[in-house]
Amino acid sequence: MEERRSAEAMEASVLESGIVSSGEGLAHVKVRRYDPTAGGQPSYDEFDGIPFADRSVLDVLHSIYQERDPSLAYRHVCTKGFCGSCMLVVNGLPVLACQYPALADMTIEPHPKFPVIRDLVVGLGLDVAEGRKDAVIVGDAAAGSSAEAVSAVGSRADIDPKACVHCQDCVAVCPVGVYSFVSKRVKVIDPDSCLGPSCNMCVDTCWKMAIKMVPRGNHDLQYPIG
Ligand code: SF4
Ligand code: SF4
Ligand code: FES
Repeated sequence: MEERRSAEAMEASVLESGIVSSGEGLAHVKVRRYDPTAGGQPSYDEFDGIPFADRSVLDVLHSIYQERDPSLAYRHVCTKGFCGSCMLVVNGLPVLACQYPALADMTIEPHPKFPVIRDLVVGLGLDVAEGRKDAVIVGDAAAGSSAEAVSAVGSRADIDPKACVHCQDCVAVCPVGVYSFVSKRVKVIDPDSCLGPSCNMCVDTCWKMAIKMVPRGNHDLQYPIG
């Protein structure tokens, strides 16, 4: 697995997964399949016997695509944790597939914030020219999203308001629109979409070191919205 993250961030990812990917085990993988253009309802395909030790979730998807089912659709670009294009959900937790460790038992779904184009590929609808500050959902998200509740475990990013100077660097770098610039202040507007330590882009970017990973459900550091 290629790594951009710090050792600490990756260790946090592994620990929050609850299952350490070591040994020679084979994984059971359940993948959500859906093609909105074909109609019908989403379904799940299951794959057994996939090697997962010391591999990323993206590595496992490559194995399924190359050896089991070439019709599986998923997205990746950099494979190094820079672009955010491999975002998806593993066992209810939003992560970057190229940075998150593969687990022995995984249910893999598209990120629920965005409408499904096919299988794990979502339409991002992010206006990069606007610094991603106006992330929007395009199309009929209710029909296409995985619509699963985001896991209550794991970590997400949050801003320490005492340290933040509202430069908007984190707004620009976040691939899922967690932050927004509202009334001359940077605020967390969508904490549940955060990809956690597997992403860490905003933490790495913030030159004021104002962003920390906090347990999901902990809103102590979060600005009031509005
Ligand atoms: S990058 Fe850091 S200082 Fe700049 S707006 Fe984000 S949290 Fe605040
Ligand atoms: S808030 Fe930070 S860690 Fe979470 S998805 Fe956005 S850039 Fe990544
Ligand atoms: S492929 Fe670019 S962040 Fe995973």
